[in-house]
Amino acid sequence: MVSIQTSDRTLTLTWPDGVRGSFAAVWLRDQCACGECRHPRNGQRFLDTASIPSDIGIEEAALGGTDTVEVSFLGGELHTSSFSLESLRMASAGWAPARRRAVLWGACLEGRMPTAAFSGISTDELELRDWLCGAASMGVALLHGVPRHRGAVAEVAGLFAHVRETNYGRVFDVRAVVDPTNLADTALALAVHTDNPYRDPTPTLQLLHCLASSADGGDTILVDGFNAVERLRKEAPAMLDVLAARPIRFAFRDPACDLVAEFPIVSLNHRGEPVAVHFNNRSKVGPAATTHEVEAWYDAYRSFARLLTSPDLEVRLRLQPGDLIMFDNTRVLHGRTGFAAGGERLLQGCYAERDGLLSRLGVLERRFGAGPR
Ligand code: FE2
Repeated sequence: MVSIQTSDRTLTLTWPDGVRGSFAAVWLRDQCACGECRHPRNGQRFLDTASIPSDIGIEEAALGGTDTVEVSFLGGELHTSSFSLESLRMASAGWAPARRRAVLWGACLEGRMPTAAFSGISTDELELRDWLCGAASMGVALLHGVPRHRGAVAEVAGLFAHVRETNYGRVFDVRAVVDPTNLADTALALAVHTDNPYRDPTPTLQLLHCLASSADGGDTILVDGFNAVERLRKEAPAMLDVLAARPIRFAFRDPACDLVAEFPIVSLNHRGEPVAVHFNNRSKVGPAATTHEVEAWYDAYRSFARLLTSPDLEVRLRLQPGDLIMFDNTRVLHGRTGFAAGGERLLQGCYAERDGLLSRLGVLERRFGAGPR
């Protein structure tokens, strides 16, 4: 049986297996889920949190059957709340990460990427759940058998998210017709990068659908930016601090648009975990000239850029017509090898947002249970 202790302002529960959780009265009052405090269907809060008095305390707490605890409060309006013991036990460990925990990868992901068939995920919600679950934890997933028509990439995104239209359109072409007499820049290798870091918010999902790939080369390169961050933390923690502490400027300008945004190369959360990487040498303006220790920033940038080219951190794959690769644009960096002459490579891409993916996955897991982790 769960044992209960109360002081004026705190409820402490101890479970038979020794797990213990302490909950402040103000937090408990705020979490009340009764019909007066929350909307019964969507859980939205009616209670004005700011109206809870700062001296709120606990008058009494007692078990209500085997699975709830009833708490009445002192101070403010008289109120009694009922909490499930299970939810308090989970809360005692702190919130689970809002994003799925990132499973870091390097070259070992080659051939082991979360993969599905379009015919499966578009007709079977369990297959969609599994594919999205893999994408959420690895930050990348591959799809085969996507119909080879223009616009299909947006149809795939529409299975779990909304397409993010930008100045490049709802979908955009990544195309290079290789002409031996005129080797277009677009046939050159592209170092790994984040797309659109000059846009705030930066798109969090990118999908690329291969429509033609008869050119030699043009292989897709992927690097788990979070893994590279952890490598930098191990090898040169002071450099990670420098990259995380200083936002830099990214910009893109053409006759129709003028986009400027600022992000650090690595964004860390309050626990020091990476939550975003913004890396794009082509659209990077850089740190302000007045930045303190600007040389230290360039040293750190150089080290991180070198890490991103480590063969053991990257995965290379050759997309065939009908293949689609989806990745978290603010975690997984992408690039490509150069093309040889005499062929065509056409990808069609679109942007979408991670929140749509995680929401669809959350609904599918409510319905079918958690997917494979
Ligand atoms: Fe790109």
